Amino acid sequence: MTMNMLGNKTILITGVLTEDSLAFKVAKMAEQSGARIILSGAGRGLSITKRTATKLETNPEVLEIDVTIQEQLDEAGTYVAKEYGRLDGLLHSIGYAPANCLGQGMFQADWDDVSLSLHISTYSLKALTQAFLPSLRESQGASIVGLDFDASVSWPGYDWMGIAKAGYESLARYLARDLGQDNIRVNLIAAGPIKTIAAKSIPSFSKFEGAWSSRSPLGWDSSDPSSAVAKACICLLSDWFPATTGEIIHVDGGYHAVGA
Ligand SMILES: NC(=O)c1ccc[n+]([C@@H]2O[C@H](COP(=O)([O-])OP(=O)(O)OC[C@H]3O[C@@H](n4cnc5c(N)ncnc54)[C@H](O)[C@@H]3O)[C@@H](O)[C@H]2O)c1
Repeated sequence: MTMNMLGNKTILITGVLTEDSLAFKVAKMAEQSGARIILSGAGRGLSITKRTATKLETNPEVLEIDVTIQEQLDEAGTYVAKEYGRLDGLLHSIGYAPANCLGQGMFQADWDDVSLSLHISTYSLKALTQAFLPSLRESQGASIVGLDFDASVSWPGYDWMGIAKAGYESLARYLARDLGQDNIRVNLIAAGPIKTIAAKSIPSFSKFEGAWSSRSPLGWDSSDPSSAVAKACICLLSDWFPATTGEIIHVDGGYHAVGA
């Protein structure tokens, strides 16, 4: 590990729930890379996030941000601008879909279910970015990184979450277009399947696991506490991808590159 890859940077990391959360590994590695980090948690999960924060070296501050509540976004944005001044990085690691949206085909969910999925999993990338835009602009080179699951094809059981991720991929490109003038980069990591709380809500998760472990050129162990995804996030949050934006980087063992 490069010791000081994120030295002097302040980074907001959303989506830390348990120590299994992908964002937890990013948080841990960001600290080790010299960043000052801030976490956020939401709703009933907030107390769990606060407990998980104590497992980190710097016991970071935890802000309350439910991405569907505009006042919380506004308050957090104002607070960070006042207390931290500048924000150099933002990790978006947030996704949710009601049970009707996962594993039941496309016809069980109604618009209320679908709109909630899109609100939390897609639109929130814009909402979160907007809330922190003044602080991100101060950085003169901020990086926004989001966690994606390849949405270029359909998957068993992923259903409406797949549509949400397709929108997420597109939104990242549009945000990259609009924020380039502020020297703010927006990129996604398309991760292979990893056993987290969110993954457990996908009924067909074991199908992904099997396909991934047998087909990926580099192999893939979905229960491996491997930090491949976190490492890629740290790289994108660092100054080492200065001319990359609107990109999707696959951290999937190479699965996306093979047809069978
Ligand atoms: N686990 C995988 O296999 C995998 C693969 C590719 C991409 N991803 C993506 O990684 C991201 C993180 O997922 P994870 O697997 O670490 O699971 P996780 O359950 O640990 O993280 C999901 C997070 O979303 C947050 N969240 C849900 N609703 C929210 C709301 N209204 N406001 C704010 N936060 C809210 C939760 O608090 C939680 O921290 C998700 O976007 C997921 O789609 C996961």
